Amino acid sequence: MSMHPGEPWSRGVRRRDDGVVEVAGLGVHELAAQVGTPAYVLDETDFRARARAYRTAFETAFRAVGTDVDVYYAGKALLTVAVARWAREEGLRVDTASGGELAVALRAGIPGTEIGLHGNNKSDAELDRALEVGVGRIIVDSLVEIDRVAAAARARGVVAPVMVRVTTGVHAGGHEYISTAHEDQKFGLSIAAPRGSGVDSDAPGDSPAMTALLDVVRRPELHLLGIHSHIGSQILDPTGFEVAARAVLELRADLAARTGVLVDEVDIGGGYGIAYLPGEVALDPERIAKDVAGAVDAVAARLGTPLPRFSIEPGRAIVGPAGLTLYTVGTVKPVALDDGRVRTYVSVDGGMSDNIRPALYGAQYHAEVVGRASVAAPVLARVVGKHCESGDIVVHEVMLPGDVRAGDLLAVPATGAYGRSMASNYNLLTRPPVVAVSDGTARVLVRRETVDDLLALDQG
Ligand code: LLP
Repeated sequence: MSMHPGEPWSRGVRRRDDGVVEVAGLGVHELAAQVGTPAYVLDETDFRARARAYRTAFETAFRAVGTDVDVYYAGKALLTVAVARWAREEGLRVDTASGGELAVALRAGIPGTEIGLHGNNKSDAELDRALEVGVGRIIVDSLVEIDRVAAAARARGVVAPVMVRVTTGVHAGGHEYISTAHEDQKFGLSIAAPRGSGVDSDAPGDSPAMTALLDVVRRPELHLLGIHSHIGSQILDPTGFEVAARAVLELRADLAARTGVLVDEVDIGGGYGIAYLPGEVALDPERIAKDVAGAVDAVAARLGTPLPRFSIEPGRAIVGPAGLTLYTVGTVKPVALDDGRVRTYVSVDGGMSDNIRPALYGAQYHAEVVGRASVAAPVLARVVGKHCESGDIVVHEVMLPGDVRAGDLLAVPATGAYGRSMASNYNLLTRPPVVAVSDGTARVLVRRETVDDLLALDQG
């Protein structure tokens, strides 16, 4: 029937001879009996293997060109205390993007020095907490934030370690590598010089990125660690990383020429794409690490500057394929289409509240009936949720066994990233648990929300 293991399923997923699927040695019926559905299920071994694969691939490639790399797990993809610990045990650091993510990383025992804090609009409380716990780096995202970090550091009597997030004009996904473009979006500071400047002066003005770097360098409360660039997410063509990394190294050399400060570190962000559908191919960490290391080595040689230390921030590529969502099928309804075909609407016990990505991005997913074998001819199906909204679609189009029926267990693979982390309580559904499975044993990492949890927030 289907070919487990293989993408987009995690490595621990296999279909037994009786047709029942198991995750890391635990059958889906036992799993559903223990934790209920819907549930986010994480294959712990698979998560760890992907974390190691990224670290090893990048360390090997960057050591080969004479420098080193730190891998930060991007917690926005999914952060729980256990997940943060797994990342650390596999030699990764943790990237956070809010006070909440920072709190979970700290609860997991991640030392502040191994945590980064991102955000285009960090609050004073977030900045102060970051300094209090001694985060290894605060990635500043605007000129005004430089003032605010400096003030917070001064108030605490510390020196804040800072990276400046720049935009290089590389739009990943759209494949527009316009290396001097101004980007019309909220993140980072452009490396492109301002347009229309210098009408009656001979030199064009400094770019926002250079202005920020010069500002950080002259402030005694700030230590400029390096330059940060994140070009997008779910990137399947690695060229953009090379183009962006080159632009950042050129900016680093310009800054050194202007100030004598050659920053120690360059971060090329996250965004490494994964397979969501059978037949899709994820970005290979070894290939991309080699390509980027080769590109930066060549550009550093041309510029005559030694290579900095590098860092990367993968989220989706570590946790996405390690997760699946387990649902129970309810209503099954054939709907006649105008072209004479029939589409079978298969409703599950969750929906857009546990996975907003299809509704928000038109994201495509795969699904299979995992609780039994079926010899029924496949039918064109659409997996939908239980929300009061016709856009509540989990899987737009998938072939399912023609006898799919209420009570069937259905799994959607590759939901580990940006599922639970973007979940909502729409229609006051309670958010599913996050369950880890390894060696045939399930462990609840985040329990299922209850209606009492919801009522507890309502002040009446
Ligand atoms: N570093 C920075 C600065 C980022 O902004 C992001 C993602 C990452 C790292 C991790 O990117 P990843 O390796 O996971 O692609 N909600 C969207 C994805 C938003 C990504 C935002 N930034 C989705 O569900 O596709």
